[in-house]
Formats: sequence, structure tokens, C-alpha cells
Amino acid sequence: MPKKHSLQPRLIGTGLSGLVGSKVVELLQDEFQFENIDLTHPTHPTDITKLDQVQRVLAASDAEVVLHFAAFTDVTKSWEQRGDKNGVAYQVNVIGTENIVKAAAESGKHVVHISTAYVFDGKKAEPYTEEDPLHPIEWYGETKAIAEQVVQDSQASWTILRIDQPFRSDPFNRPDVVHRIIHGLLAGTLPPQFTNHYLGPTFVDDFAEVIRWVVKTKQTGIFHASAGEQWTDYDLATAVQKTLQLPGKVEKGDLDAYLAKSHRPYARNTALSTEKLRGLLPQPQLPIRDALRLVTFVDDANQ
Ligand SMILES: NC(=O)c1ccc[n+]([C@@H]2O[C@H](COP(=O)([O-])OP(=O)(O)OC[C@H]3O[C@@H](n4cnc5c(N)ncnc54)[C@H](OP(=O)(O)O)[C@@H]3O)[C@@H](O)[C@H]2O)c1
Repeated sequence: MPKKHSLQPRLIGTGLSGLVGSKVVELLQDEFQFENIDLTHPTHPTDITKLDQVQRVLAASDAEVVLHFAAFTDVTKSWEQRGDKNGVAYQVNVIGTENIVKAAAESGKHVVHISTAYVFDGKKAEPYTEEDPLHPIEWYGETKAIAEQVVQDSQASWTILRIDQPFRSDPFNRPDVVHRIIHGLLAGTLPPQFTNHYLGPTFVDDFAEVIRWVVKTKQTGIFHASAGEQWTDYDLATAVQKTLQLPGKVEKGDLDAYLAKSHRPYARNTALSTEKLRGLLPQPQLPIRDALRLVTFVDDANQ
């Protein structure tokens, strides 16, 4: 991470090397000095599943806010661990969160916890609101729902931000939903895209602005922080192709046919309503069609 001016406010966070966290750091690093709580940290590697390590690193920091991005995010691998509280998904997502909020409360820090639309069952036709009951249908969602409760029951002050299908303007080492579509179209390997599965993409570059706002206001409560739109996979892939003028053809796919062969449950709708946040944010979230115009990619085949 670049060297920073000592007068910049400090932010300490977990998962700052991940798909979402690393972009937030990149976009806010002129304003804040980031400390990463990370397994691979060169001087103080920290495993968030170990309370003593988390307490040590939070007690030593004068940051007022902890950004808690770290999670075990592989939904399929999580499903293979379902019910296993010793499994890495439960350990990182639940125990890791318990440790963060406990240590944050002890050191008087506000916790910003990043959560997911997978806490819902996907049966609702419209975008989910913050008032909708949680009902996860697979283990990753269940661990994240338990983690949300852990945060709410804690002695720390907290904000929970739920997002869905994050995508960045630039390529990352783990392709996001939009870069997966781009790669699939360029390589001619894009699978049929569901016309009956609904998602609520989150433009990470814009989400960084939500983080900036939460850090400044320390607004407590649960907020949905996607772009507030509801897309089918097919419509999103078609918009990506059109906007970025990509070759190939987007074929239509059927979620029900896929589910008949799938080994794990799959939420039909993960779109989020952002009405609550919209009334508070200083600027509106970018519509997805505008965000897609800012996406860059590398065409490996034509290098
Ligand atoms: N990606 C999505 O589709 C999606 C959708 C909705 C919500 N979210 C939520 O958004 C947040 C960020 O997701 P992401 O996709 O950016 O995650 P990601 O790319 O999978 O990165 C996960 C991060 O967690 C860290 N981590 C994992 N285990 C750890 C441990 N034991 N101790 C310390 N750090 C640990 C990893 O550090 P190392 O790299 O050092 O292992 C990495 O920085 C998560 O809370 C996730 O639930 C993600």
C-alpha cells in the first residue's frame, strides 16, 4: 500500500485485498490511510478467526472505524461445509465477525459490516427491502445471516451494508459478474444466460462512495447498497455486449432447467431496493447502464 501522510484519518479493515475491498482502498486512499488486517500482512499477519490476534491489532490502531469486508465467499464450497461450525465458511464468516465486533467494542471503534443479498431466500418477485425477513437457503447465506445478528447483538456501534453481485470498472484477479460475461463472449464460452433469475448488481466504484459516507457519518442501521436495480442475467449480458461492443451471441437460459441438475440451492432473486439509502446519500448511485460504460477489460486473445 502507498505511503500516506500521517494527518490523514486512519481506517482499519479486513478483506482489503479482496474483490470489493481493494477497489474501495484504491478509490479512497487519497483521503484515508488504510491498515489491512490480513493473513498475509508482512509485519503482523492476522487471522480474524483468532480473537487474540484481532484484539491485538485493533487495540494498537487509532482508527475510529473498522471496515469488515473479509469473508469466505465461495458459495459452492460453503455448501459442501453446510452445518459444519468448524468449517472455514462458519469460522471466517461467523467467528471472524464475532471477534471483530468484540475487539471493536473493546477499542471503541465503529464497525461497518459488509453483507449480502444471500441472507434472503430469493422467493420474492420484487427487490428486497431492509424490512424483509432473513431466510437464507444455503450455508454461505446462513453464515452471513448469523454474522449480521452477531453484529446487531454486539456492544460496538455498527452499520450493515448489504450488496449483491459486485463488479468493478477494472479487471481483478477473480473475475466479477460483468468480467465473466466479457471473458465468455470474447472466448465464445458464455453459457446460456437465465431469463428467469434476477440480480441486483453493485458497481464497486460507486459503493466506495457509500463507504466514504458511512465512515463520515457513522450512520447506524442496515442499508441495501447495490445500484438499486433488478436485472435478469440475460438482460445484463446483452447490455454488457452492446455497451462494450463485444462479439458473439448471448443465448437464453432457463434457471429451472439448471436447478433440476444443480447440487445446491440457488436464490431466484437477489435484487435489493435501495430506497432507504437513496434518501440519505449525498449523491445518487450510478445507473448500471452508465456504470457499464466505465468498465475496462483485457482481450487476452487479441494481445
Ligand atoms: N463477491 C460477491 O459476489 C459478494 C456478493 C455480496 C456480498 N459480498 C460480501 O462482500 C464482502 C467482500 O467480498 P469479496 O468478494 O471482496 O471477497 P473476496 O474477494 O473473496 O476476499 C475475501 C477477503 O477476506 C480475507 N480473508 C478470508 N479469510 C480471512 C481470515 N481468516 N483472516 C483475515 N482475512 C481473511 C481475504 O484475505 P486473503 O486474500 O489474504 O485470504 C480476502 O481479502 C464479503 O463480506 C462478502 O460476503 C460479496
